Amino acid sequence: MSNKQFNPLFSNPVRLLAPMEGLTDPLMRQILTQIAADLGRPYDWSVSEFIRVTQTVLPAHVFYKYVPELHHDAKTASGTPIHIQLLGSEAQLMAENAVFACELGAPAIDINFGCPAKTVNSHRGGSVLLDEPEVMYQIISAVRQAVPSEIPVSAKIRLGYTDTSRMDDIRGAIDASGADWLTIHARTKTQGYKPPAYWEKIQGFNSLDIPVIANGEIWNTEQAQLCIRQSGTSHLMLGRGAVTRPDLIAQVDKIDVAKDESLKTSTLLWSDLITHQIRFLQGEAKNDVVLVGRYKQWLGMLTKGYMEAQSLWNEIKRQKDKAAIIAALQASR
Ligand SMILES: Cc1cc2nc3c(=O)[nH]c(=O)nc-3n(C[C@H](O)[C@H](O)[C@H](O)COP(=O)(O)O)c2cc1C
Repeated sequence: MSNKQFNPLFSNPVRLLAPMEGLTDPLMRQILTQIAADLGRPYDWSVSEFIRVTQTVLPAHVFYKYVPELHHDAKTASGTPIHIQLLGSEAQLMAENAVFACELGAPAIDINFGCPAKTVNSHRGGSVLLDEPEVMYQIISAVRQAVPSEIPVSAKIRLGYTDTSRMDDIRGAIDASGADWLTIHARTKTQGYKPPAYWEKIQGFNSLDIPVIANGEIWNTEQAQLCIRQSGTSHLMLGRGAVTRPDLIAQVDKIDVAKDESLKTSTLLWSDLITHQIRFLQGEAKNDVVLVGRYKQWLGMLTKGYMEAQSLWNEIKRQKDKAAIIAALQASR
């Protein structure tokens, strides 16, 4: 029998919140995982923004900065586990950092082979390694062998760097590496973040003996269903769609409200989302300028999911004062 049947984490279809550097930071993770839990369909886990490994074993404070949840059993306040994502190209160094992350309490290690950033790629990290499947193999297998066997090690990839011609080699590398599961953002690096996502290409990885998680361009229930059908996997990772519609996870798995009287709906109304936006603005950040900038980034995305967000956006887009923005939010209830 394959590992697929034996991994208890995947006994039901998993729903994950994607790692998104500068977007799903600890504060946003806290808010989004709380909303999902409140709606009765918590995320199974989320993955940290990538932590870049270059020359050393990073000091503890770096891991705590990216993943303050490590202070709380590596879980958000609502109880969602946070896996730690590493990005780098030196197998041994990646393994040493992974071991240290586990000592600090990481419940799982994910390895980034999808980042398209020039600075990262020029140092042979992220998606550029999709052109070097043998290096992918070395990194994953070194990490897998180094960390305790009960800690899962996963990889997150795209379909290729400039094209999909190395997909078979990538699958072979993953297969041989001992990775516990694989997440696939169904685009190449060259295809960036633009629609469409090529969910059907994920099928080619389903022959692997490990669970496969589909990701990319899921903004609504219809796209989630189409992705499941075309990719041939029921496991999904939600990215920008989950920031734009924080109730997407509950919508996708339409909560059976009859089972839980306290849950009236799987939809998050704008009026309820206001409370979460205020919490976001009251959250921890380097300073208020950063926090307001981060909030505006979120509100800009919410305009795609909520009509009400547009008028609020028009009202506050030039506003720099946090208290004034909170007052505008309260008035827009
Ligand atoms: C702003 C931003 C930052 C991202 N940062 C990361 C990251 O740190 N690690 C990673 O594996 N993927 C990262 N991604 C990719 C996402 O995890 C996801 O694969 C991608 O957004 C596709 O999903 P979506 O179309 O549902 O957004 C990032 C994406 C965005 C938009």
